[in-house]
Amino acid sequence: MSEPTGAARRRGPFKVGDQVQLTDPKGRHHTFTLEAGKSFHTHKGSFPHDELIGAPEGTVVRTTGNTAYLALRPLLPDYVLSMPRGAAVVYPKDAGQILSMADVFPGARVVEAGVGSGALSTYLLRAVGDHGMVHSYERRADFAEVATQNVRRYFGGDHPAWQLTVGDLQDHLSDTEVDRVILDMLAPWECVEPVSKALVPGGLVCVYVATTTQLARTVESLRGHGTFNEPTAWETMVRTWHVEGLAVRPDHRMIGHTGFLVTARRLADGVEPPLRRRRPAKGAYGEDYAGPGTTSLPGNGAV
Ligand SMILES: C[S@@+](CC[C@H](N)C(=O)[O-])C[C@H]1O[C@@H](n2cnc3c(N)ncnc32)[C@H](O)[C@@H]1O
Repeated sequence: MSEPTGAARRRGPFKVGDQVQLTDPKGRHHTFTLEAGKSFHTHKGSFPHDELIGAPEGTVVRTTGNTAYLALRPLLPDYVLSMPRGAAVVYPKDAGQILSMADVFPGARVVEAGVGSGALSTYLLRAVGDHGMVHSYERRADFAEVATQNVRRYFGGDHPAWQLTVGDLQDHLSDTEVDRVILDMLAPWECVEPVSKALVPGGLVCVYVATTTQLARTVESLRGHGTFNEPTAWETMVRTWHVEGLAVRPDHRMIGHTGFLVTARRLADGVEPPLRRRRPAKGAYGEDYAGPGTTSLPGNGAV
């Protein structure tokens, strides 16, 4: 049986064309592509790529200035954070949540928009595998080009499960029988109707948004559409730890905010969403509530 696309590039001794991530003594990363006859240069000296070609991952190389660098292939989280960017990428912690909580399975038919730099597209392609489908939509041709190059470089060529359409999702979405739709864009509420049409009953939409106003409008739009179950909204925070002898404590710095996630499941056609058993919080839809399009909360915003 042949290996999934890109798998052969992730193991075995280093080969020409592989991505290499060097870690210097201060923990800084440098990423490059291995080419026969080339040299890697830093202000700490240089070394020939040929020293790494055929060597196992985890090798330590020394520059002419005697600085040691650890050579490993970048993991996907390393790769997406170091690749060229058009738009901001979905952070690895959120990509992990999306794959898990949106239940993206091998063979799934997934629609994604926007593509931005292609970080999430790469995660989705790895999750659905060669026999799934990821149809990505991106309104900006220049971002679509950046994403194409990033995805190609990661997999070592075109991925058989990937289609990319340049245009607005709401105008171009033509797929049907879709299992999962993942949205990372400014105004996902504009896409609720076409997304609802594309999804199979039981299918899932997952939306990533950066601000509370987008979060509110997204949830209210999904709730108001009538073809989804009650949306779930959450965020995750990841705190790394310093572990050294007796000094065991959270790191002082963390990425405080990336975004919010919302998921909702598509109901069968003609089914009324079940009534919510819990009443809305007192005042949630009071006289100050101006609808899902509002961009500010009245008073102290507490309801
Ligand atoms: C934050 S970026 C997406 C980043 C991407 N998820 C990644 O991980 O690299 C948002 C992208 O959505 C695109 N976009 C916004 N609205 C869109 C729409 N209605 N249809 C298609 N693309 C859209 C923007 O051009 C932008 O490239």
